[in-house]
Amino acid sequence: MPESARILIVDDEPFNIDLLEQELEDQGYQTCAARSGEEALARVAEYQPDLVLLDWMMPGMAGIEVLRRLRAEPQWRALPVIMVTARASTRDKVAGLDAGADDYLTKPIDDAELGARIRAMLRIARLEQENLTLRRAVQSQVQFKGVIGRSRAMEAVYQLLRKVVDSDTTVLLSGETGTGKEVLARCIHQEGPRRDKPFVAVNCGAMAEQLLESELFGHKKGAFTGAVNDRPGLFETADGGTLFLDEIGETTPGLQVRLLRAVQEGEIRRVGEEQVRHVDVRVLAATHRDLKQAVAEGAFREDLYYRLNVFPIGLPPLRQRREDIPELALHFLGQLRQRAPRAPEGFTARAMDALGAYEWPGNIRELQNEVERAALLGAGEARIDLGHLSERLVGGVPPAPRRGKLKEVLAQVERELILQALERHQGNRTHAAEELGMSRWGLVQKVRDYGLEV
Ligand SMILES: Nc1ncnc2c1ncn2[C@@H]1O[C@H](COP(=O)(O)OP(=O)(O)OP(=O)(O)O)[C@@H](O)[C@H]1O
Ligand SMILES: [Mg+2]
Repeated sequence: MPESARILIVDDEPFNIDLLEQELEDQGYQTCAARSGEEALARVAEYQPDLVLLDWMMPGMAGIEVLRRLRAEPQWRALPVIMVTARASTRDKVAGLDAGADDYLTKPIDDAELGARIRAMLRIARLEQENLTLRRAVQSQVQFKGVIGRSRAMEAVYQLLRKVVDSDTTVLLSGETGTGKEVLARCIHQEGPRRDKPFVAVNCGAMAEQLLESELFGHKKGAFTGAVNDRPGLFETADGGTLFLDEIGETTPGLQVRLLRAVQEGEIRRVGEEQVRHVDVRVLAATHRDLKQAVAEGAFREDLYYRLNVFPIGLPPLRQRREDIPELALHFLGQLRQRAPRAPEGFTARAMDALGAYEWPGNIRELQNEVERAALLGAGEARIDLGHLSERLVGGVPPAPRRGKLKEVLAQVERELILQALERHQGNRTHAAEELGMSRWGLVQKVRDYGLEV
């Protein structure tokens, strides 16, 4: 790295720049120069130097100001900067080092010293970079089993998970439908100290109040019609392990009172019984609702909310972690292929594009269903293509580009319409051109420009 490292020289004196450029190039570096502080900031962004030699005394924006602005940007916080001062005042140097300079050189600069300082700085920077890379690699190794996704949004979720798995803390998982709340709840149990004890999940939204009450807390024989035996509830079944209260936002106020007691004190009473029983249960809860708002509206008990919301984890919707779509899609396809060996092995680029551009209101569950459906439709073929995807993914409206200049957006729309027309006519350009109202020659040009040749 030292040989090809790029160095930005900032100095208002062209003569100094020439000297430094020559010397550094002799030493095998690539250089680039800026003659003012303002120019330096622009150059850093476009040239992406590995190191900056920064003159301290410049008219206009002084060296220290340049440095402060660099250090204010996260991506330049670690960029090695050596300040160059003419007057070797100690105060200047201290101020410079305080502002984030890594080292300083005093004019007139000695060539051997210049080389040595730069080599040392670059070496440290390289070690720091390696360290960071290693740390990242280790972090992604201790990912959670069965949980797919390396997007930043998911990385933030994993960080929270790591903090909480080894404890008995109550966790409240929130997120839209299909974002993986249950997957995460199982994972918290699996990775935690209770992994050898039961994991019991109950969907609080799926049952009427009385039935749910007897499910959770159990009942005494004869407590109500149909209670023909004494029966323990799920709190007791989960004793020593984890109870996952899914869709907790759907519970009635009466049940919330009993839940509070159970969660808070670990005390339960079977329906129709006086006796209080003690259970040791870790509670995880999930909701697709905004519970805080439910509290404000009086639909959810505030005390229970605070008791559950000890450690909240919010799951991002899939449209906010589109980077994960290819990995998830391949994962689901791989799973399906174990059951359906004739399913395609992969996706065409344009099919993957369509998956990546869709909004996914049903999140991961919707993606999983879509992949399975497409794989069955495409059975016997090598890859899943646009034609195997649902209408809503490829339908009349081309996927809206997420951003860009008008010209680029139009180009993307044009590319998509051409692709779809070719698709409809099995690649027959004459027919596709006819449908699009353009000459065959024009279409051939566009196909080439957009790299659509197969
Ligand atoms: N990170 C993930 N990696 C792999 N599969 C996932 C992931 N998250 C979710 N899934 C899969 O997506 C589907 C939906 O996940 P899950 O049931 O956990 O969602 P949910 O948030 O509980 O949804 P709902 O609110 O509708 O109950 C499941 O089939 C699950 O296996
Ligand atoms: Mg769920």
